[in-house]
Amino acid sequence: MKTRSVASQIALPLVEVNPSPTYEARIREAYANDGATSCEARIALEFKCARLLLPTDEFNRKLVSYQANKEARLHNWLKYKEGFSAQLVGNLLGKFGVGPGQKILEPFAGSATTLLVAKELGIDAVGVEILPVCHLAWEAKSKYREYDVAELCGVLKWVEETTPGQSSTPFPHIAITESAFSPEQEARLMWYREQFDALGLSNPTRSLLQLVLISILEDISYTRKDGQYLRWDSRATKAQGRDARRVAQSKQPFKAFDKGKIFEVKEALITALNQVIRDIEAMLLNGKLPGHQELIEGTVLETLPKMEGEQFDAVITSPPYCNRYDYTRTYALELAFLGAGEEEVRHLRQELLSCTVENRSKLARLEAYYSSIGRATDFQKVVGAVNNNHALQEVFIAIRTRGARGDLNNKGVIRMVEGYFTELAFVIFELHRVCRAGARVAIVNDNVRYGGEIIPVDLLMTELAADFGFSPETVYVLPQRKGNSSQQMGKYGREANRKSITVWLKS
Ligand SMILES: C[S@@+](CC[C@H](N)C(=O)[O-])C[C@H]1O[C@@H](n2cnc3c(N)ncnc32)[C@H](O)[C@@H]1O
Repeated sequence: MKTRSVASQIALPLVEVNPSPTYEARIREAYANDGATSCEARIALEFKCARLLLPTDEFNRKLVSYQANKEARLHNWLKYKEGFSAQLVGNLLGKFGVGPGQKILEPFAGSATTLLVAKELGIDAVGVEILPVCHLAWEAKSKYREYDVAELCGVLKWVEETTPGQSSTPFPHIAITESAFSPEQEARLMWYREQFDALGLSNPTRSLLQLVLISILEDISYTRKDGQYLRWDSRATKAQGRDARRVAQSKQPFKAFDKGKIFEVKEALITALNQVIRDIEAMLLNGKLPGHQELIEGTVLETLPKMEGEQFDAVITSPPYCNRYDYTRTYALELAFLGAGEEEVRHLRQELLSCTVENRSKLARLEAYYSSIGRATDFQKVVGAVNNNHALQEVFIAIRTRGARGDLNNKGVIRMVEGYFTELAFVIFELHRVCRAGARVAIVNDNVRYGGEIIPVDLLMTELAADFGFSPETVYVLPQRKGNSSQQMGKYGREANRKSITVWLKS
């Protein structure tokens, strides 16, 4: 089946179409499994959405990930690997024709890429984000006009010329961060924190220095952020203890992991400070543009339902993927440094859009919440759309079947997948409500596969969007990684999981 050219992008209703024999064969081959479950509803959905799929190099993997931000001033102050690039946001805003005087929404703001691009373009923006570390990043990055460069240069000079001391205040560890630093590094880190508080600096500088300290935690630690979890270098006592316990149980120790250079606190601080000062100086040369941007702290599942309707001209976002990545583990060092204890971290984990195997159902709570704000009927509408969606129900049944057959390596995946799509349905419903007519919504997401079952996240979201009134326009399909030989691909075939940007229009 031919895909459409960029020029012919127009919103069409989702209707059944007859695929060409070659296209049908390709899709059937991709979904083929051992026959334990049906994939007919998903295959039908693929046919229904085929005309939307637009393979493109315009949005490559670099743009759709944090990679392109590594060189982008301001955006690289905090390495937020789950973010997308500022360039992607700029491209989409240009494509959608959104400019100053208009207002956009980013419901999963993360490191605030969308908000910061909006700020530089003079576009109003509202973001929602659950993690405190992202709020600190926004606080520090969005104030770039308020910094006193001379004061910052003074701090840099002081760091360069001063031999660091050792604090006796321990790092506020939680269980999963214990032994992340050598005792010397930890005592130095805490010493800098105390000194920065005692230097009598202005408030903007103090909040920027907090972010600078946060931004070096990984580099000075024995850990590396690795998607689902933190990886531990073999030099960490935690890794050594874990291996000793395994050996005592006559098991093989884990494969040794060496993260490479662990930076001295002073060295890492000097590098980070130089970078922020350089960026601030460069950005101050640009004229100030009008526009108001704010980041709301909390869960999107409760903030969106309370927002005034018909107010946004575009949404550019990327929710957590349905891939078991646990942000509260990956960012455990940063959360602990900011004072989040065990209880708060556990609470944040549960508040995440269900993307980890530990998430419990939020449905009863959502029902009570929608009733409490007088919107019980809307709750029923969303639940009805989920229950009546054939492809989605097929996915839920398939994943449960895989769990029962022992084809999943963690049964928590069942609850995660069900929670993920149910919660996402509420988000999509609310996005439609808060968008103005003519607004476009762009969502970056990855398809996933569990127990051999392909879950076409992009098309499942798109079908829900169409149910709630959006006109699906395009599913930009990103180039696949060549030679990808992940475990699942080896076991289930050559087709890699689609990575895409779905675009819907509120007409
Ligand atoms: C893929 S990241 C978004 C990255 C962002 N686009 C950027 O460029 O940095 C998804 C974000 O959603 C946030 N998140 C997850 N569940 C949430 C919820 N229930 N409410 C608000 N934010 C949530 C996560 O903390 C994470 O920062």
